[in-house]
Amino acid sequence: MDKEAVEKPTINRAKFATSLGVLAATLGSAVGLGNIWKFPYLAGSNGGAAFLLVYIVCMLLIGIPVMVTELTLGRVARSNAIATMQKLAPKGQPWWLIGAAGVLSAFLIMAFYSEVAAWVFAYIIKAIQGGILSTDPEVTKSAFNGLVTDPTQSLIWQWIDLAIVGFIILLGVNKGIEGATKKLMPILLILLIVVGIRSITLPGAGEGLAFLFQPDFGKLTAASFLIAMGLAFFKLSVGMGTMITYGSYFRDDQDIPGTAFRVAFSDLAVSLLAGIAIFPAVFAFGYEPNAGPSLLFLTIPSVFASMPLGNVFMVIFFILTFIASIGAQISLVEVPVAFLEEKFHLSRKVASISTVVAIAVFGALAALSNSLLADVKLLGMTFFDLFDYTTSNILLPLGGLFIAIFISWVWGKKKITAALTNDGKLANTWIVNVLYGTLLVVTPILVTIVLLNGLKIIQ
Ligand code: PHE
Repeated sequence: MDKEAVEKPTINRAKFATSLGVLAATLGSAVGLGNIWKFPYLAGSNGGAAFLLVYIVCMLLIGIPVMVTELTLGRVARSNAIATMQKLAPKGQPWWLIGAAGVLSAFLIMAFYSEVAAWVFAYIIKAIQGGILSTDPEVTKSAFNGLVTDPTQSLIWQWIDLAIVGFIILLGVNKGIEGATKKLMPILLILLIVVGIRSITLPGAGEGLAFLFQPDFGKLTAASFLIAMGLAFFKLSVGMGTMITYGSYFRDDQDIPGTAFRVAFSDLAVSLLAGIAIFPAVFAFGYEPNAGPSLLFLTIPSVFASMPLGNVFMVIFFILTFIASIGAQISLVEVPVAFLEEKFHLSRKVASISTVVAIAVFGALAALSNSLLADVKLLGMTFFDLFDYTTSNILLPLGGLFIAIFISWVWGKKKITAALTNDGKLANTWIVNVLYGTLLVVTPILVTIVLLNGLKIIQ
C-alpha cells in the first residue's frame, strides 16, 4: 500500500450520521440470535450467576478491549477490514490476513446463522397460521422436523431471509444499516419486555429465575471458560472484522471506549431479559431448559401453547427474534460487501447482490445439514455444527488474539492514545491506559490459554 493511500482519507465514504445511529447499528450487530438461543441456556447450564461472572470477566478483559481495538483501527483507516490492516501495518507484514480471516468468518457464520434466522421467519408465519401451537411434543417435533428435513423449504426460507438482509444492505450505510437498526432496536426491546413480563408473572416462575441467576460454582468446568470466551466473541461480534467495518463508519467525535462499554452492557442486559422471557415460562409449565434449536423451536411453542393468549405471545416472540437476527446479519454481510465495493470498485448494488448470492450458495451446505447432507460429517460434525463450532471457538478468538497483539505491540501506545482520546478532546486517559495494558498483556495471555485448553493442547 503506498503512502498516498495511507494518508489520504477516502472521499465520499459513508458515515453513520448520528451518535444514536452509531449506537443502534453497533448494538444491532451485537444483539442477535446469540442472546436468545445461546446465552440464556449456556448461562443456565454452566452454573447460572457463576457463569455470568466468568462471562463478565471475559467481556471486560477480552470482548470490550477487542471491540475498542477494531472500532479504532476501522475509524483511523476508514476502510474495509482487509484494507484497514493493510493500511495500518508496517510494510511487508501480513497483518491483512486478520481481515481476510474476518471475511471468511463472515461467510461461515452467515451460512448457519441465516438458516436459523430462516427457521425463525418460517415460524412467524407458522405461528400466525396456528399450526405449531401445541403442548404435544410429537406435534411440535414433527412440525420442526418437517421444516428442517425438507431441503426445498430449508433453502427457500434461507433465500427469503437473505433477500431481506440483502435489501437492507443494498440501501447503504445510512438508509440501510443505520435507518433499519434505529427503527428495529426499540421495537425489539419493547417486545422483549412484553414477553418478559408475561413470563415472570406466571405461577411457578421463580424456578426459572433461579436457573438463570442462582450461582452454582460446582457447575463451572474448564470447558465453561472456553464457552464464556467464545460467547463473548460471538456476542459482541468481535474477532472477525465486523467492528473494523462499522468503526470505519464511526464519526470522528464518537467516544469509542464509551460506545464499546455501552454496547457490551446493553447486550448483556438484552441477554438477561431474553433469559427472563424464556426460562420462568419454561419452568412454570414443567419443560426442560434444553439448548439451541430445540429450545427455540420445540420448547417455546409448547410453552406458549400452555398459556392464555399464547399464540399472540408466540408470534411476538418469533418476530422479536427475527428482528434481533437482522441487525446481526446486516453487520456480517457488510464485511464482504465493504471489501468488494472498495477493492474492486463495485457499485453497492453489485457488491450486495453478489455477496448475498455467494452466501446463498455456500449457505446451502448448512441449510441442507439436516436433510440431503445429514450424513456428510467433518470432524464428526455436520457443516452446520462445524461452521458454528469453528467460528466461535477458533476463528474469532484467533482473530481477537492477533488484533490485540497488533494494536498494542505493533501500532503502539502513542497512536492508541491519540485515537481513543479523539486527539486529546476526551478526558479518558485512565481508561485508555487500562485498555492499553489489558490489550498488551492480559487479553493475549487469556485468549491463548483458553484457546489451547479448548483445543486440548494444554489440559
Ligand atoms: N453478535 C451476534 C449474535 O449474538 C452474532 C454475530 C457474530 C454478529 C459475529 C456479527 C459478527 O447473535
